[in-house]
Amino acid sequence: MRIVRAKDYQDMSEKAACMIAEQIRRKPDCVLGLATGSTPEGIYEKLTEWYRAGELDFARVTTVNLDEYRGLDSENVHSYYHYMKEKLFSRVNLRQERTFVPDGMEPDSGRACREYDGIIASVGGVDLQLLGLGHNGHIGFNEPGTDFETRTHCVDLTESTVRANRRFFASMDEVPRQACTMGIGTIMQAAEIVMAVSGEDKAEVLRNAVCGPVTIMLPASVLQLHRNVTVIADEAALSLVGHGGRVS
Ligand code: F6R
Repeated sequence: MRIVRAKDYQDMSEKAACMIAEQIRRKPDCVLGLATGSTPEGIYEKLTEWYRAGELDFARVTTVNLDEYRGLDSENVHSYYHYMKEKLFSRVNLRQERTFVPDGMEPDSGRACREYDGIIASVGGVDLQLLGLGHNGHIGFNEPGTDFETRTHCVDLTESTVRANRRFFASMDEVPRQACTMGIGTIMQAAEIVMAVSGEDKAEVLRNAVCGPVTIMLPASVLQLHRNVTVIADEAALSLVGHGGRVS
């Protein structure tokens, strides 16, 4: 596991965006696994900036997102599809039919999840997966206790995740309680993983994820077992991790 220390959120965003841009230049028809939330906003901003400057071309890129809330359609402003459209899809030359997000509206959630795994397989798997880190150590919406082998599945969000998501909604009642997420097994199949982390409030969970034991009670700790992971985090998030560059 490689640890890249960034000065601050801006620097973290630029460094993570650089890795994604390099992936696109190396393999223009690559498959990017993408995340939502606060952390990647600056990354998508940078990618958009480089696209507008003519430095990056998404014409042949495919994207598969980590997760989607259950019960929110793609037009819902709180859906992750809508987030992706606002922050990236509509701002660069990605082809809409090459952007995939789990279907949170399919009544048969098991079927929606199986189909999503089928899509990931049919595009040849993920070349580079971008992740954020939840305060409870979740990756995607794989909450503590999730088996490391899981494929895309439907989950009940924990109370702490529902509370963390509250900031995006008008009231607690509106926050979805379920989501469809790529499983940990699905995430671990990506050829390369980049996890971006920012802020002092993530320092403890980040330390435990990269230096602590690998345990299903801290899903991100599984990344210690992947052969090609880069954690890009700012000073605040890395304040409890010693200097050194490589952890395992
Ligand atoms: C988002 C996702 C989540 C977030 C995590 C961190 O698609 O899968 O795992 O990455 O909850 O969220 P932020 O970046 O808002 O702190």
